[in-house]
This record gives sequence, C-alpha cells and structure tokens, in this order.
Amino acid sequence: MFWLLTLLAYLLGSLSFAIVLSRLAGMPDPRVGGSGNPGATNMLRLAGKRLAIATLLGDLCKGLLPVLLAARLDQNTQQQAWIGLAAVCGHLYPLYFRFRGGKGVATAAGALLGLYPPAALLSLACWLLVFSLTRTSSVAALSALPLTLPLLAWQQPAALFPMALLACLVIWRHRSNLRDLLAGRERHF
Ligand code: G3P
Repeated sequence: MFWLLTLLAYLLGSLSFAIVLSRLAGMPDPRVGGSGNPGATNMLRLAGKRLAIATLLGDLCKGLLPVLLAARLDQNTQQQAWIGLAAVCGHLYPLYFRFRGGKGVATAAGALLGLYPPAALLSLACWLLVFSLTRTSSVAALSALPLTLPLLAWQQPAALFPMALLACLVIWRHRSNLRDLLAGRERHF
C-alpha cells in the first residue's frame, strides 16, 4: 500500500497546475517567461491574480491530498511524510512535462498541512512576515520551510528526516534565486 500511495503521490504531484492552466488559458508556458518557474509566484507575474491563486491552490492540494489519504489508510507519520515528499518530487520533476517542474513551495506547504497543521501555520506566518518585509517570494519561502524543522523535530520526530530532505530539495531548486539574490537582481513585488 505504501509504495502504491507513493507512486500515486508522484503522479499527482507531476500535474503542474501552472503549465496546465496556462495552456487552458492559451498563454505561453510559464517556463519561458518571468523567472521561468512553473509556480504561483511566476503565474502572478505572467498571468495575474486569478490564475496565480488557482495555481497555488492546485499545487497545494496535490501535496495535501496524498498525505490525508495516507493517514486515512493507516500509514504511519513517517510513511505519510515520504508520500508527501513523493508529491513534491512530482512537482519538481514532473513525468508529464519532461521532468522540468517547479520549486515545490506550495506542494510542500500542502504536504506539511496534511502532516502537521501547526507546522504549516508557522510556515505561513513566517512566509507572510518575511514577504511583507522583503516583497520577495523566494526569500519568504527559503525562510519559512526550514523554520518548521525544529518544530517537527520536537513534535513529530518521525517525519523529520523526510521533511528535512524535502526542505533541502526545495532549497536546491531555489539556487537560481540564491544566485540572483547575491547578484542583487532577484525579482521583487
Ligand atoms: O514559490 C516559488 C518562489 O519561491 C520563487 O518563485 O518565480 O520568484 O523564482 P520565482
């Protein structure tokens, strides 16, 4: 059951809402405009609020639903966390889009919400605070996700290793943002 759920999570995670919604709206692929990231932030730049919110919710749900399903099917906390990570891997390396995906922030947030809602709330509060101070989505994301790890270590230690791996992957996928931040050319709102 665990491996089946992991596979399902990866397949669901591979469904990139930014790419699908752009195609449905007859717009260019978000991977060739703005930051080149198929995610809600870049959709806000390229397509406006409505499609950005739809992308955010879609990407969040594909992290949330597999974890909730896993909990429902009696998978333990660590198994749920691996299944959430599989959904994020789908988003980062999507099967249906030549493995060229996004940075995983919304999908990671969804997985976290399913796994341990207080960690997701802490992460959201940090994201909002940092974003309001910096007006930079990448800085907000890079601050918010690692902040949850000490809380998970304390309250959900079984989920810590997969979630730490998830945080590392998300940071790795932000390396172009880190380069741009250091060079002073990161995109702000
Ligand atoms: O959630 C993605 C965000 O952290 C960075 O997006 O488009 O500014 O590279 P972007």
